[in-house]
Amino acid sequence: MKKLSIVILAIASIMLTSCKSQECAPSALDIIMSRTSIRSFTGDPVSKEQLETILKAGMAAPSAMNGQPWRFVVVTDKEKIASVFGSGFRGEMFTQAGAVIVVCGETTQMRKPFGQPDAPEEEMPNKFWYEDCSAAAQNILLAAKALGLGAVWTAGYPAMERVSSIAYALGIPEKVIPLCVIPVGVPAENPEPKDKWKPENIHWEQW
Ligand SMILES: Cc1cc2nc3c(=O)[nH]c(=O)nc-3n(C[C@H](O)[C@H](O)[C@H](O)COP(=O)(O)O)c2cc1C
Repeated sequence: MKKLSIVILAIASIMLTSCKSQECAPSALDIIMSRTSIRSFTGDPVSKEQLETILKAGMAAPSAMNGQPWRFVVVTDKEKIASVFGSGFRGEMFTQAGAVIVVCGETTQMRKPFGQPDAPEEEMPNKFWYEDCSAAAQNILLAAKALGLGAVWTAGYPAMERVSSIAYALGIPEKVIPLCVIPVGVPAENPEPKDKWKPENIHWEQW
């Protein structure tokens, strides 16, 4: 009996150890369904490696005609975070974060006029920039969650006053618009995900 218990304990400990491997990592669906907005952080830093992983996830998003109009301004300097983002409503949400990622969109792109494959490329408006950048922003929120970090989407475009003040403070060029500002950090809160499942919002086959 004693031998059997030892064997069971050994198997359990091997299983627990192997759960640290990729196989037991939460699935993409687990991450999606458990993500919540995090607005309180411990103040601990977020490493450059973690930020690059998060930004890589942002850049993996789909975009119209693969235009990839996203640009990112990443601020990790505490004083700069405080001076640019810290004074507004719930400023501590930014000052306690390890980093702030401003997801911006290039509103023009170089391309050939439609139906003229031989024409030279021209600078044209990119009407899809905010859809593309929203997909990137969502990937960023999910990647932060997957790394055990917290994040929240806060307003940029179309709140033009905020857009102008952020663009001015960070030297963002005229044709690039800050879509949203995402503080990322070690969570100091653990809110329950909201239940948003509303079958009445689905119309199967026909509205
Ligand atoms: C376009 C957009 C703008 C948002 N702006 C803010 C904001 O300015 N401040 C804030 O605290 N949260 C903001 N949020 C986060 C929402 O409040 C949050 O996603 C929503 O309440 C659902 O909660 P959840 O993210 O925990 O599921 C924004 C989210 C989106 C998508």
